[in-house]
Formats: sequence, C-alpha cells, structure tokens
Amino acid sequence: MRRIAVLTSGGDAPGMNAAVRAVVRAADARGIEPYGVRDGFAGLIQGRIEPMGARSVSGILHLGGTVLGTARSPQFRTTEGRREALTHLDRAEIEGLVVIGGDGSFRGADALSREGHVRVAGIPGTIDNDLSGTDFTLGFDTAVNTALELIDRIRDTAASHQRLFFVEVMGRKSGWLALYCGLAGGATEALVPERPTDIPLLRQRVLHSFELGKRFCIVVVAEGDDAGGAYSVAERVAEGTDLDYRVTTLGHVQRGGPPNMRDRILGALLGDAAVTALAEGADRVMVGLRRGEIVRTPLERTWTHIDRIPEDLLELMDRLAR
Ligand code: F6P
Repeated sequence: MRRIAVLTSGGDAPGMNAAVRAVVRAADARGIEPYGVRDGFAGLIQGRIEPMGARSVSGILHLGGTVLGTARSPQFRTTEGRREALTHLDRAEIEGLVVIGGDGSFRGADALSREGHVRVAGIPGTIDNDLSGTDFTLGFDTAVNTALELIDRIRDTAASHQRLFFVEVMGRKSGWLALYCGLAGGATEALVPERPTDIPLLRQRVLHSFELGKRFCIVVVAEGDDAGGAYSVAERVAEGTDLDYRVTTLGHVQRGGPPNMRDRILGALLGDAAVTALAEGADRVMVGLRRGEIVRTPLERTWTHIDRIPEDLLELMDRLAR
C-alpha cells in the first residue's frame, strides 16, 4: 500500500485528533504516504484531499473536535455522490481510507469500498458508545467525565434547595452515556431507551428518596428514552405532587473539550491498528479494543449487532440509590 487517506465523519468526538495523528504518523513510519480529507465525506465528494506528514499533525493530540473538520453528508448516501468521491480517490491514487466516525459513517465507507477499488478501515469515534466491536468508542470516556463535572455542579445547587433535577444527556438511541453518568454521578435513576420507563414508579422512587432524608435527587434522562425528553418526563413525574424540580439539558457541551487520557490512548492504539489493518490487506473492518486487545470487526456487524448496555450496572445503581 502506497497511499492512505484519513477522514473524520458524523458528530465530532474528543480523541478524533489523537486518532488522526496516530494514523498519519503510523503510516509515515511504515513508509506509506498519508493524506487527509477535509470535512468528511462532503469534502471527499469535492476532492478536498491533501497530503499530510508527521509535522502536519503536531500539537493536535490534546485538542477537542476534529482539525480535519466533519460533516453529515446526505449526498454521500447516493451512488452518484460516492461515484464522485471514488473519482477523486482514484485521481489521488489513494488505496486505503481510514474513516473515524459512527455507524452512519461506516455504512457510507462500506458502500464506498464495495463500489470502488479503495479499501477501508473504520475507527469507532462517537460519544454515544453505540458500536458493536469495541468496549468503548473514542470520545465516550471524555464525554461522560464532562457531563459528570456538570452533574456535580448541579448537585451543589440541588442539595442547597432540596430539589429534584432532571438532567438530559446525549446518546441518540443508546443509554450508555446516561447509565455511566447516572452511576458515577450518584443519580437516583437513569432513564435509558433500553429499559421501558415507568413514570408512576419513578415518582414513587423520587418521593421515597426525599422521605429517606436526601437533600437532592438527580434523574439522568437519555435523550432517546422511550418516555420522551427530560422536560416531558419531569412534568409527568411531578404531576399531583409538590416536588420542586428543575430541568437541565446538557447538549453539545458533552461533545467539546480536550480528550482525556483514555481517549488519547485509545486514539493512538486504534489509529495505529487501522493502518496495520490496511497494510495487511484488510478491508471493510472496524478496529476496536476489547478487554485490552485490538480486534477487527466486519464493518457491517458494527451496525447490525448491538452491544447491550450492562443491565447489571443499572441494577447496581438502583441498589446504591438509597
Ligand atoms: O452521535 C453523537 C451525537 O452527539 C448524539 O449523541 C446526538 O444525538 C447527535 O450527535 C447530535 O447531532 P448534531 O450535532 O448533528 O445535532
């Protein structure tokens, strides 16, 4: 393999830059020429492919977001869009493409490789941790820690006023972020899409929690929960009670900020593993880390299989919230 390119796609996640740096430097170390694509698949369709080198990724390891830029490209979902992208890749003589992103990005990468001559390797990059084939995705750990810092602040004010807080976190259709924020943040409950929400039961638990003498009560709500967003859940829980409640939606602050140690290390490991995979002839695989080991998973499996959230952690949180 003579040339590879790297792009970031979908929602940015802390650690993407660490992975870009690792891809570029690992390629360089193997004598493969590294290229970068600006603004994800949207930039690829426009042919925005630039040579990179070891020095062009200096000083980016600790930065949040993605220095390459990212996009959600509707055009890339069409065969015409992908044909355009393939023309640019052929012209630049790119033989391997590393795609850092989530399941939508991997679907696009998979189709691209099937329709053209380029081989692709995926690196799981999303704060949602919703990809099968890795214990954790790039950005999840940092996003949980960012949310926790904010939840800790909310606890200060909640305890001062003896209030109930509903805190909505991201995660799309998955409850990983909510579960980890709930357990690590000492929440009374984490509402996740994977478990049906019982509003009367939740009301009972909240009231009981104050009866036990607690000065605050935090309910973490996953944005994709079946009961709806935090505002609607809060209204229904408080109905017929005199609970003094407030709602906070954390939103995009969870996505920004410098990657923590875990996401930097994960970026380094997976960036290097993606280059190794391509150099060894692999195609349409995602590299991930499972119990400390680098593993390769067929791209298609990353969205056709779902790694369920650990239900035992939900039960643990329930046991500890007393
Ligand atoms: O997939 C990452 C994520 O942050 C989700 O948690 C969230 O639902 C979505 O992206 C938000 O997307 P956007 O930045 O396009 O509003």
